[in-house]
Amino acid sequence: MNAPNMRLTGLDLRAEIERLRKERNAVILAHYYQKPELQDLADFVGDSLDLSKKAASTEADVIAFCGVRFMAETAKILSPDKIVVLPDMDAGCSLEDSCPPEQFKAFREANPDHIALTYINCSTEVKALSDIIVTSSSADIILKQIPPEQKIIFGPDRNLGGYLARKTGRDMLLWPGVCIVHEAFSETELLKLKAQYPGAPVLAHPECPPHVLDHADHVGSTRSILEHALASPSEIMIVATEPHIMHQMEKAAPHKTFIGAPGADGNCNCNMCPYMALNTLEKLYLALRDLEPRIEIEESLRVAAKKPLDRMLEMAGGTVGKGDVGKPLVSGD
Ligand code: 13P
Ligand code: SF4
Repeated sequence: MNAPNMRLTGLDLRAEIERLRKERNAVILAHYYQKPELQDLADFVGDSLDLSKKAASTEADVIAFCGVRFMAETAKILSPDKIVVLPDMDAGCSLEDSCPPEQFKAFREANPDHIALTYINCSTEVKALSDIIVTSSSADIILKQIPPEQKIIFGPDRNLGGYLARKTGRDMLLWPGVCIVHEAFSETELLKLKAQYPGAPVLAHPECPPHVLDHADHVGSTRSILEHALASPSEIMIVATEPHIMHQMEKAAPHKTFIGAPGADGNCNCNMCPYMALNTLEKLYLALRDLEPRIEIEESLRVAAKKPLDRMLEMAGGTVGKGDVGKPLVSGD
């Protein structure tokens, strides 16, 4: 246990979070990139698509979202009657920052014959300007449902867009945004690691640049990477995504070795998401106690942003991934 995280003015934070979770009828949702202590006390851990589905279907009165702001906003868009709290409101995303709504609007207006297929990692305003939202686990299946003659703008992640274009043969106009975390992986360092561990498969997130994806044996969302790591017969694997996902891998398969792909200096630390890292046990406790910081979205904007999210949920189909490796779901889930 992490001693400094245990107490806030003499409180047992885990016990207090447990008490408040019941008192508030709250559900704690966490992304795989969250600190292990937050993943471990969450009711549900998942990728962006599964977290959206959970947020849309939960019976709780309060959603405490351990993730970044666009994820918590998505929860509020889909579940407007719930109180949605984000432990740290500064938990943003470089992809969201790369795509200011007024510039995206101008881009759309300059390409009126294109529909906008937009990655969920964007602001509520950009969602409201989009036709269909996708996540890394739903983009492929959604893209296949769009008629081949339909022209498409894809934003804001040029790496995910480029990967989808290569995979499906669809020519799309790409917005030039990147995830600072996945962009930091180094091909040179990855090749050194592969030479050190011959035969170890590389599992990569499609937010990685093409020179990293070229060396991947499996490309997929965080959930897909996790499932692949657990199902693979390999005992050693190289993981090219935010390293906190390895917490679930190590819990579920302690006999296997998972090695984080390195950044340019050979040190994995540059691949930790600085936004995801802002959430802490202390801030989660305070968010549940004070029901702040709270996500609020102006109603007409929320309704406009919900349409492309609803399209994603319709087109993505399927069920929510297990998302609870080693941990039972709360009743009602
Ligand atoms: P997924 O969990 O949907 O793969 O998304 C990864 C990510 O970058 C979230 O910010
Ligand atoms: Fe954004 Fe990248 Fe962090 Fe995900 S990992 S929240 S895409 S900066």
